[in-house]
Amino acid sequence: MKQNILFKLLSLLLIVSCQSTPEIKFESVVTEEYRPVYHFTPEYGWMNDPNGLIYLDGKYHLFYQNYPDSTVWGPMHWGHAVSTDLVNWESLPIALYPDSLGYIFSGSAVLDAENSSGLGTADNPPMIAIFTYHDPELANTTSDIFQSQAIAFSMDKGQTWEKYSGNPVLPNPGIRDFRDPKVSQITNPDGSKTWIMTLAVLDQINFYSSPDLKNWTLMSEFGKNVGAHGGVWECPDLLPFKTPSGEDKWVLLVSINPGGPQNGSATQYFIGDFENGEFTPDDTMIRWLDYGPDNYAGVTWSNLPADQDRTLFIGWMSNWLYANVVPTKSWRSAMTVPRELSLFDVDGTLLVKSTPAVELEKLRSEKYEVDKGICELPSEAVEITAKISSDTFSITFSNELNENLTISKENGLVSIDRRNAGKSDFHRDFAAIHSAPMSWEANEIRVFMDASSIELFVNNGELVLTSILFPSSPWKTINFSENTQSVEIYHLKK
Ligand code: FRU
Repeated sequence: MKQNILFKLLSLLLIVSCQSTPEIKFESVVTEEYRPVYHFTPEYGWMNDPNGLIYLDGKYHLFYQNYPDSTVWGPMHWGHAVSTDLVNWESLPIALYPDSLGYIFSGSAVLDAENSSGLGTADNPPMIAIFTYHDPELANTTSDIFQSQAIAFSMDKGQTWEKYSGNPVLPNPGIRDFRDPKVSQITNPDGSKTWIMTLAVLDQINFYSSPDLKNWTLMSEFGKNVGAHGGVWECPDLLPFKTPSGEDKWVLLVSINPGGPQNGSATQYFIGDFENGEFTPDDTMIRWLDYGPDNYAGVTWSNLPADQDRTLFIGWMSNWLYANVVPTKSWRSAMTVPRELSLFDVDGTLLVKSTPAVELEKLRSEKYEVDKGICELPSEAVEITAKISSDTFSITFSNELNENLTISKENGLVSIDRRNAGKSDFHRDFAAIHSAPMSWEANEIRVFMDASSIELFVNNGELVLTSILFPSSPWKTINFSENTQSVEIYHLKK
């Protein structure tokens, strides 16, 4: 009798939970343990920050901090990859090697369309990379002047590079942390153009100007008493935006390490005005671009054509807390998915939204519609979309080893809980729950899952959490809470 009731109860449960769940067969698409399917990774060796993001003639260039001889950080080179669609990347030979002036640290790239530098010709304008030289020997002494800014130029659209003979173009003024130049061009009221360098200097930002990318003048300093200061400031970016009401605003991205909201590294930003070479923030509020632990040093593409009216961003999907010890074998670290940044307004407060780049929809293959309850996953690489009712949700991913990963919103907090999500013994801070306050309503989510990461976009990017993970076996099942509706799962394939 008891058995009978138990059996009935169990079958009822099954019917409810698997109602309208289609038959899904798991198909592994991962070729090497933890190697993502659609996130950029170096073929081998170490990678950190994205560098020199530039678009030219149909190609998105992605340079990156790279040590090709090891899977831990070391003498920095600029690795190089290109893509025509932001999801298929072709790895190219290393663009910049360390030399007698030092390692090649982070920086940016621009098209010098008017040949202001004189390093190309008017007919064949040069691509210019602006980067930091880090002299490792000097850094080991008591000297403070081991970082300086330098340039290199390419006359074949970024394939091969020559370093400028007059380097460094901006010598060190006696400050240990003096790096990561992000250069952009602004048009002055009289129609002339000026190059602006946004540079991280210890825990503030310096703005420099130049007519030719070779001679730089300090214009202003920003950040002394504003923003988060729990660590050194790195990898800034200065971006023009329109607010939802059509006003002009500038956003200053500043990565900080340590001192992020989840410990270790993270990216904060300021919203304000940039006038006469000076940045003035609208307020002193601390804003984080991504509340997860694993989106650092992200910057945006330069030279996007006029018909691409967007600000395109990519970040390094790791954290300096544990980046050197994560359990991948021949390579270390991936980039985030590319994202489009824009401004939105919550109850009168402007914030930056990060929406997955529209090109990611190209990856969608089979689609499974799930009502609610439990469902199988078709592969390690999936996108999940869902509508949320009553401002709360909970989705748990599990595998047959009883490991699980939960994303949720409860009591105004959006969280990713990776405490029991697989390997974590490589660093004591890795197994953790990461939460973000979201005072406004969550009504939809998009989740990008790959072999060793999850990116959660609430309301299509109004709040974002990015987290890497190392399940001992792929996630096979998902379990949705009741208020998670119209669930769609896409198998993502290249
Ligand atoms: C940020 C950073 C930069 C530096 C580079 C060195 O992750 O520390 O400030 O240029 O990495 O690889």
